[in-house]
Amino acid sequence: MSDLYRLRGLSRRRFLAASASALGLAALPAWSRRLPATDDLFRLRTGPAPWSLQPVGPAVSGAWGYNGIVPGPTLRYRRGEQLRILLDNGLAQPTSVHWHGIRLPNAMDGVPHLTQPPVAPGETFEYVFELPDAGTYWYHSHLNGPEQLARGLVGALVVEEPDPYPVDRDIAWLLDDWRLTRQGAITEDFNNPHDMSHAGRIGNTVTVNGRLPHAMDVRPGERIRLRLMNAANGRIFGLAFDDLPVHVIAFDGQPVTPHQPEGGRVVIGPGMRADVVLDYPAEADRPFVVRDTFYRGMEYQLMAFTVTGSQVRETAPAGSPPALPANPVPEPNLDGAETREIVFGGGMMGGTGMQQMMRMMREGMAWTVNGRPVEGPGQGNREPTFTLARGQSCRIVFRNDTRWHHPVHLHGHHFRVLTRNGSAEPYQPFRDTVLMNPDDTIEAAFVADNPGDWLFHCHIAEHQAGGMRGMFRVRD
Ligand code: C2O
Ligand code: CU
Repeated sequence: MSDLYRLRGLSRRRFLAASASALGLAALPAWSRRLPATDDLFRLRTGPAPWSLQPVGPAVSGAWGYNGIVPGPTLRYRRGEQLRILLDNGLAQPTSVHWHGIRLPNAMDGVPHLTQPPVAPGETFEYVFELPDAGTYWYHSHLNGPEQLARGLVGALVVEEPDPYPVDRDIAWLLDDWRLTRQGAITEDFNNPHDMSHAGRIGNTVTVNGRLPHAMDVRPGERIRLRLMNAANGRIFGLAFDDLPVHVIAFDGQPVTPHQPEGGRVVIGPGMRADVVLDYPAEADRPFVVRDTFYRGMEYQLMAFTVTGSQVRETAPAGSPPALPANPVPEPNLDGAETREIVFGGGMMGGTGMQQMMRMMREGMAWTVNGRPVEGPGQGNREPTFTLARGQSCRIVFRNDTRWHHPVHLHGHHFRVLTRNGSAEPYQPFRDTVLMNPDDTIEAAFVADNPGDWLFHCHIAEHQAGGMRGMFRVRD
């Protein structure tokens, strides 16, 4: 397979040019650019942003963006490079940036009250760290998520492999979900008690890279790497790709054995990513549609691929695409592992009694971690939920004692997902966020190699705000 690409002479420069042109497609805004590898600080300024759902169309009022765009600029680096960004807060409320999935020093993690002070209006904060892993990541505000994520403070962060992966185009889709009024304003019912205690803020408008998706042109015989990112507050996506050959090659930035998605669809909860490779037939006389089938009865068509133009090759590549090179994520040692259990409870219709729910909700809380609602206004409990010595392997058990889905995210580490309800998880991928179905018990393992106090939480913004969060300490 790779010979095929070598024959085509896909040089790095052409590879980058190809990815740039992929982003100039009619339905998608020109939103990506590679940052120069200089020592200069790149400034990321938060503030109200003019934004519309179509390239030409009325503005949606109430959006906030980075550097005036929604989503923020796509940041592209190569593995091993240093990210140097100055957050400049132009909002009327404090904020911070979290670099979701990057294994970075604790002080750069962007969690207010835990790893840094909130960045007040008019103030700045400098983020400088190296990017140890290639893959698909993202960045977002980590303060007042129910409002700041819902208004658009999100962006893609792509870290390229040392050698380009052999595809014809590399495309990123940052998926988001908005709750808009009929007048085209962002609905300001952030963190209302219903969203908080049920499925989170599910909106009424889905966007790809900040625009209403329609159709995208692809060429006959083309092989595309599609980076999927879920930046929504609460919506889970389950994407089915018609009868196109599709292979998952990475989850949450980390390579996984290339495989066809389970049940034919790629499921991505808030915060999660998946890299897939799509192969378009060399002869095609019909469009292929991407459908989101996650919520029963709410299925819809997200996008259509129109196969058009000259053939890229005479026969489409067959079989699995090559595996991505591994990142230097430490392998947990199960023999010497310590076990920690996290039980998530609360929410409506679960085992938490109505009286306790009402009591919690009077205090703006709806969820429990290991039986207790989180205390105080900070991001995590003041006391760690658990502590590990640096270098310790940990077997971690996530138990979902609720009637709801929860994408659980650990900061600063990737963990291998071992089992789900007693069955081996297919391919046992490294992930930074795992989607728990109602009543699931998930077993994972990781090496606590990154010292500091790290947040863990459900990535549904309203659940996190409603108490579904905690902190773990890695002692130096
Ligand atoms: Cu992407 Cu703590 O978050
Ligand atoms: Cu949740």
